[in-house]
Amino acid sequence: MRLKDKGIIVTGGASGIGEATIRRAVAEGARAVIADMNAEAGEALAAELGDEKARFVRVDVTRSEDVAALFREAADFCGVDGVFNNAGVGGLCPAVDYTDEDWQHIIDINLSGVFKVAREAMRHMQEHGGSIVNCASILGHLGQSETAAYTAAKGGVLNLTRTLALEGAAKGIRVSSISPGYIKTPLLEVLDQETLDFLTDLHPVGRLGRPEEVANAAVFLMSDEASFITGADLLVDGGFAAGKS
Ligand SMILES: NC(=O)c1ccc[n+]([C@@H]2O[C@H](COP(=O)([O-])OP(=O)(O)OC[C@H]3O[C@@H](n4cnc5c(N)ncnc54)[C@H](O)[C@@H]3O)[C@@H](O)[C@H]2O)c1
Repeated sequence: MRLKDKGIIVTGGASGIGEATIRRAVAEGARAVIADMNAEAGEALAAELGDEKARFVRVDVTRSEDVAALFREAADFCGVDGVFNNAGVGGLCPAVDYTDEDWQHIIDINLSGVFKVAREAMRHMQEHGGSIVNCASILGHLGQSETAAYTAAKGGVLNLTRTLALEGAAKGIRVSSISPGYIKTPLLEVLDQETLDFLTDLHPVGRLGRPEEVANAAVFLMSDEASFITGADLLVDGGFAAGKS
């Protein structure tokens, strides 16, 4: 089992890619903390997996005090060996129509939230090391119309990952990122069928990704099998980027 006896935190763990990662991590022997704003879904998942294996902690990743409390509770429940820094939001808007608030909302969650969680993770991993996996996106590598804040945040996550990897290396703290292509999760539910068909065609494999396919990569990067991987980004994109580079 890849994560036997490890303690794992997954932010955004109550839905989509995060939920799939929680399920896979527990199946691989981890004890896991489901960290999310959505208490109803998070509590239900924790109850399904059982008290011994999973615990829900309500957290807003934009709030440093929530994040500190999350790590205190996780340290007590399971220890902090791996963190999947995955909570995020989407949203489509032409750049000229963005309000300051809309811009800030996405940057706060998708970039500052990732930093706040990684910072606290590194504080907790100073003595024994660990693995932090940040969720970036194919849109951290490529531009796309009407996603100015999202693409800026995800591009930021990629380079933040490299810097944190350099700072953590001597302490045995690995920091890497995953860049999913389009994955069929509730995040895409706002899109109409025409848009989904268009997005599907961007993937040479001819389909959207499944949350489990990103979860597999997150579990691998949090496991000791990835012991020489840090500062790297892993594309999980059905070949999307291959035709663009
Ligand atoms: N679905 C895709 O196509 C896709 C593609 C590339 C990258 N991603 C990234 O994958 C990650 C997960 O996305 P998903 O598709 O599973 O989305 P999702 O909407 O299914 O899940 C996101 C979860 O994050 C939680 N969340 C949102 N804001 C939060 C906050 N401030 N604090 C704590 N939790 C919060 C939500 O409650 C939700 O449970 C995101 O970072 C997203 O940008 C998704």
